[in-house]
Amino acid sequence: MKNKSLISINDFTPEEHIRILDLAEEFERQPTQRILEEFVVATLFFEPSTRTRLSFESAASRLGARLIGFSEPASTSLQKGESLRDTIRTISNYSDLIVMRHPREGSARFASEVSTVPIINAGDGANQHPTQTLLDLYSIRKTQGKLDNLNIAFVGDLKYGRTVHSLVMAFCNYNTTFHLVSPVALKLPSSVKIHIKDKKLTYHQYTELQEIVPKADIIYMTRIQKERFSDPLDYEKVKNSYVLKKQMLEDAKPNLKILHPLPRVNEIAIDVDSNPMAYYFTQALNGVFIRQALLASILGVVS
Ligand code: CP
Repeated sequence: MKNKSLISINDFTPEEHIRILDLAEEFERQPTQRILEEFVVATLFFEPSTRTRLSFESAASRLGARLIGFSEPASTSLQKGESLRDTIRTISNYSDLIVMRHPREGSARFASEVSTVPIINAGDGANQHPTQTLLDLYSIRKTQGKLDNLNIAFVGDLKYGRTVHSLVMAFCNYNTTFHLVSPVALKLPSSVKIHIKDKKLTYHQYTELQEIVPKADIIYMTRIQKERFSDPLDYEKVKNSYVLKKQMLEDAKPNLKILHPLPRVNEIAIDVDSNPMAYYFTQALNGVFIRQALLASILGVVS
């Protein structure tokens, strides 16, 4: 994985995904190791973030790397009209690896084509969020003891949810049964469903959340992505489509875990947080170990 960019989850093989998960276990056991002292990592966030940016920065700091970057593109020369191409070319002179989030789909791939250092896609519009996928795989393997033969329910905004797109693609490498719960207007795009069909895996589509609770090993809740709607009235129609409440979990399987990439708006009631099935805050913590594993692998410090 040395010097490889990670733009789509399929840029890494399933064997490489497992290698990252195994390495993350080692970092979870020993998170502070000064193995990246000679490296500079740039975090370029053209779109808001709490977990992805700060867990990357925490991961890099715990490994001794130095950090440069921005979370307010308004404070950069982009404001003067500089192009993304020139921004990336310049920052690749200042750093050994770039972590980038951008609202435009395809921007991370473009950046990887003009950069002289590896790019990690930290989310490009509604397209992909591969590092979230790796921490989701880590969380699922840790809680279920396996990645194969699981019933995974994806709930909410399956159209614009980039975390859903890349996680569905990753689970096409396993014998997964997909349960897809969304408003009709926010169904999983056919460009993602094609991956399920190609692997001859089974998927079921629903509009009601309660139907999938007794079937699921994992419920992956997602926020309706307000910022991706061109017409605010369309968002108003679907914004409260699903709210998972504690009493809805009474007939759940004992091994069920509830995941959410976060941020949450109102799709999981606060009373669920104290249920042992709620795993989303630990899931966010797992992001540090996965991102340590990615930084160390791509910078070539581990193999
Ligand atoms: N899961 C995730 O991408 O969260 P942030 O938007 O806070 O980075």
